[in-house]
Amino acid sequence: MKGSLFISLEGPDGSGKSTQAYLLSRALRARGYIVTGICEPGGTPLGEQVRTLLFTEEGPPGRMAMALLLAASRAQVVEEVIRPALAQGDVVIADRYADSTLAYQAYGQGLDVDDMRALARMATGGLTPDLTLYVDVSEEVSRARMAARLQSNKLDKETASFHARVRFGYERLIAAQPERWVRVRGDAPIDAVHSAILKAVEPALARVMHTI
Ligand code: TYD
Repeated sequence: MKGSLFISLEGPDGSGKSTQAYLLSRALRARGYIVTGICEPGGTPLGEQVRTLLFTEEGPPGRMAMALLLAASRAQVVEEVIRPALAQGDVVIADRYADSTLAYQAYGQGLDVDDMRALARMATGGLTPDLTLYVDVSEEVSRARMAARLQSNKLDKETASFHARVRFGYERLIAAQPERWVRVRGDAPIDAVHSAILKAVEPALARVMHTI
């Protein structure tokens, strides 16, 4: 049987994880892996429509509507893209996944943690990443990077206390399942963060190689 590997990247806004997800995909493809990359919300035609609904100039929907739309986008990308890719032994790299809903909608926006856990489970059918990279940045760096963005999404504009709650949420998630998470310092130069991520991914890749 071929091995597959499901990696997600998480982090606060401005952590640089989207750049890192791209660099990781590129590096693994260069090593001969078949990589499927997705970015949430999105990754399917329905997901792209959800992204448009969420991040319009008219403002975001209410927090529960937002959570449900994010879950719909996730359910679709799991069924249409992630499960088929894993079934054929690909490496899947997700730029955000269900942990974002717990960090942002539950801890950040104050929706019930158990409800959001149940919603995430419904959307994913219980499919959990093998490895989650937490790209951690200081509040100062995160704020500076958000301010420098030409295009911001609605949650970029949330208050400092919102972003602090999101960080706290991530810390709780990491503490609850330390075996799944690897923390990488995102304040370092792009290349250094990339090298740290490759190092973190290598043991998981080695396990996959053994099952090919
Ligand atoms: P995006 O432009 O993709 O930014 P980032 O590079 O930070 O991921 O915007 C995604 C935004 O949506 C980001 O502010 C986090 C938020 N989000 C949630 O609140 N819940 C979720 O489940 C997901 C996937 C994203």
